[in-house]
Amino acid sequence: MSISSPSELIGMQRISEAVGITLKKMREYAQPGMTAQELDEYGGSILQELGAKSAPRLTYGFPGWTCICLNNEVAHGIPSPKKILKEGDLVNIDVSAELDGFWADNGGSFVLGKDIHQHLPLVDASKQILRKAINNIKGGVKIADIGKLIETEAKKSGLRVIKNLVGHGVGRSLHEAPREIPCYHDRLNLDRFKKNSTVAIETFISTKASFAHQSNDGWTFVTTDGSFVAQHEHTIMVTDSKPIILTASNEIWN
Ligand code: CO
Ligand code: CO
Repeated sequence: MSISSPSELIGMQRISEAVGITLKKMREYAQPGMTAQELDEYGGSILQELGAKSAPRLTYGFPGWTCICLNNEVAHGIPSPKKILKEGDLVNIDVSAELDGFWADNGGSFVLGKDIHQHLPLVDASKQILRKAINNIKGGVKIADIGKLIETEAKKSGLRVIKNLVGHGVGRSLHEAPREIPCYHDRLNLDRFKKNSTVAIETFISTKASFAHQSNDGWTFVTTDGSFVAQHEHTIMVTDSKPIILTASNEIWN
């Protein structure tokens, strides 16, 4: 959406804070031995306390309040009771929600407990790359140039990007124009970032794979070659200079 009044900015700030708080509290609550469903129920209760509604459930009928991925799962992971969190797992929580007609999206990968499988370099690279990408966005910048930056930075760390999962416009719905903000240089994408617009910028940084495959459950995107993927996502408002990070409260990159 394009923010055209102070009340619209306040609306976006409120829902962005709600998803940010929910994501932060879920990350702190996550413990080895817990099921993804328990973690999701906790997140759902926080959203409810804040008056926010789960966006994937509302928009797509997703079977959960939030998306939770473990290890080879990349995105849209179902918070199943069969999924048990373990020490050293690469965990991704993605929280998106609606409040008073405004929508925001916020996600992040982290290592649960001790980093016994050495996922931290991937997680740290993803955070740094998201930070750099966001710092380079302003009104008039080509979406394809930010994709190029993300891919170039990944390569510098010996990593790759997932090409079929993308950032997107957000604000009056979960997914809106611009429909695709890819993590690579898509030469067919001629769109530019527009001042005052709100968008969700997300990294999908991979140890090897370039594509994620949708699994038989109809939701979860996974890697099938043993690759791991880290995702970090903020909802931002584009300006003439540095963007305003609306979901900054959860500090996913600290
Ligand atoms: Co998200
Ligand atoms: Co998103």
